[in-house]
Amino acid sequence: MKIIIPTIALIALTSLNTYASQGETLYKTYCISCHGDKAHGDGPAASALTESPSNIYEGLTSFFESDAELMETVLYGNEEMPAWGSVLNEKQVNQIFDYIKSIN
Ligand code: HEC
Repeated sequence: MKIIIPTIALIALTSLNTYASQGETLYKTYCISCHGDKAHGDGPAASALTESPSNIYEGLTSFFESDAELMETVLYGNEEMPAWGSVLNEKQVNQIFDYIKSIN
C-alpha cells in the first residue's frame, strides 16, 4: 500500500507534465513564429503581416473575451490569423492555452 500511493502520484504528475509539454510542442510548431515566445504578439514573422498578431495571454486573462471565442478564432481563423481547425482539435488548443498561461 505504501508503494502504491507514491506510484499513483508519480503517474498523475507525469501525465500532467506531458499535457503541458504537448501544448509547448504544438505552440512552438504552429504559433510562435507570429505570436512570439510568450504569446505577446511579437514573433519574428509578425513584422511581415499587415495586422499585428494578438497577445494571446491578454486574451486568455481578459474579462471581455471568453476562452470559447478565442477557441473559435484558432479553429476558424480571422483575417491574417490562419484557421487551424484541420490541424488541431479543441483538446490540443486547450493544451496550447494552458502552456501560454504557464509561461506568463
Ligand atoms: C501567420 C501568423 C500567425 C500564426 C502562425 C498564428 N497566428 Fe494567431 N493571430 C494572428 C493574427 C494576425 C491575429 C489577429 C487577428 C485579428 O485580430 O483579426 C491572431 C489572433 C489570434 C487569437 C485571437 C486573440 C484575441 O484576443 O482575439 C488567438 C487566440 C490566436 N491568434 C491563437 C493562435 C494559436 C493558438 C496559433 C497556433 C496554433 C496561432 N494563433 C498561430 C497571426 C497568427
